[in-house]
Amino acid sequence: MTGSLSSTAKERMNILVFGKDGQLGKAFQEELSKLTTALLVKPTIQYVGRSECDLADRELLSQLLNQVEPRLIINASAYTAVDKAETESNLAFAINVRAPEVMAQYAADHGATFLHYSTDYVFDGEKYGYYLEDDIRNPLGIYGKSKAAGEDVIARIFASNNGSGQYAIFRTSWVYGDGGNLIQTILRLAKEREELKIINDQFGVPTSANWLAQVSLNLVLDEHPHLRKFTSGIYHAVPAGETTWYGLACLAVQVALDAGVTLKAHPSTIKPILAVEYPLPAPRPINSRMSTDKLHLVFAGLGDMSKLEQLNQPWDKAVQSYVASLAKDGLI
Ligand SMILES: NC(=O)c1ccc[n+]([C@@H]2O[C@H](COP(=O)([O-])OP(=O)(O)OC[C@H]3O[C@@H](n4cnc5c(N)ncnc54)[C@H](OP(=O)(O)O)[C@@H]3O)[C@@H](O)[C@H]2O)c1
Repeated sequence: MTGSLSSTAKERMNILVFGKDGQLGKAFQEELSKLTTALLVKPTIQYVGRSECDLADRELLSQLLNQVEPRLIINASAYTAVDKAETESNLAFAINVRAPEVMAQYAADHGATFLHYSTDYVFDGEKYGYYLEDDIRNPLGIYGKSKAAGEDVIARIFASNNGSGQYAIFRTSWVYGDGGNLIQTILRLAKEREELKIINDQFGVPTSANWLAQVSLNLVLDEHPHLRKFTSGIYHAVPAGETTWYGLACLAVQVALDAGVTLKAHPSTIKPILAVEYPLPAPRPINSRMSTDKLHLVFAGLGDMSKLEQLNQPWDKAVQSYVASLAKDGLI
């Protein structure tokens, strides 16, 4: 179905954000609110969670899109239960492929902008060095397969539609924010146990959900902020540097201790182990490192150093302030 936005929708900056209760969805609520506080004419922003629209229901999703007429669709929702996906393949594909298919089709048909998120788990981790956006994907588990299929369906829809719609798929890794994540799990275990065993042969980059929301908005919105034109496609989006889960655990525990939190574990009582010693239902890539050169080039082209500086933010600085804020708020 091809349509066009009503004249009122064309005039309004209408933003629809899916996944409002997830880590990235909450980060978008914070970042969009900061961005729009000072505006005289504020965009209309609607945040949608499971209770407003179950994304397994494509009909309902379609109705919502037609009713809201968004000019910017941000899909921060996903089926993210990596291990459970091994036995819930249908649901994983429904949320990670068929729901974004409906969103992308709407955006392509109506000249809207679509933001979507993918994962390092589309790769098998066998590459030596940093993955590039167009490297061959070979997901090891169902979650990764569903996210790779989601990337494909979005690209196909926009390729076969020569309208004015545009999309960006940000591939990211090891996301943490307001919600259950590995840093919180590590800190909880560090409170309960003296010794922790953490995997030290999987390499990747911890990514703050707020950082990811900011970087995404930097690509799609200009300083006014109005939608800007960009080249549709996949962009790797992770902060600078790299670590292992073990490196991340040692840092998180040390920062919590420095902030005065009482923990049973200490960096010296965290033991590095190999991934084979901790088998999980879904295998993970050993190497999750992704090059962000493509996004660097785009931001360099905008001539705004602050966007480049933000992209270059080191992962460990962000983790330090995240753990320090958890400690300050009594959340450890
Ligand atoms: N987390 C990571 O480490 C990581 C790594 C790489 C890439 N990513 C990608 O980054 C994006 C954001 O991840 P995240 O960590 O923010 O995920 P998250 O915290 O798990 O949030 C996902 C959101 O999707 C919603 N959702 C799932 N099924 C739904 C359904 N049937 N109907 C409506 N909503 C549904 C969930 O709703 P409920 O709250 O109701 O369950 C949840 O709020 C995703 O695309 C993910 O694949 C994440």
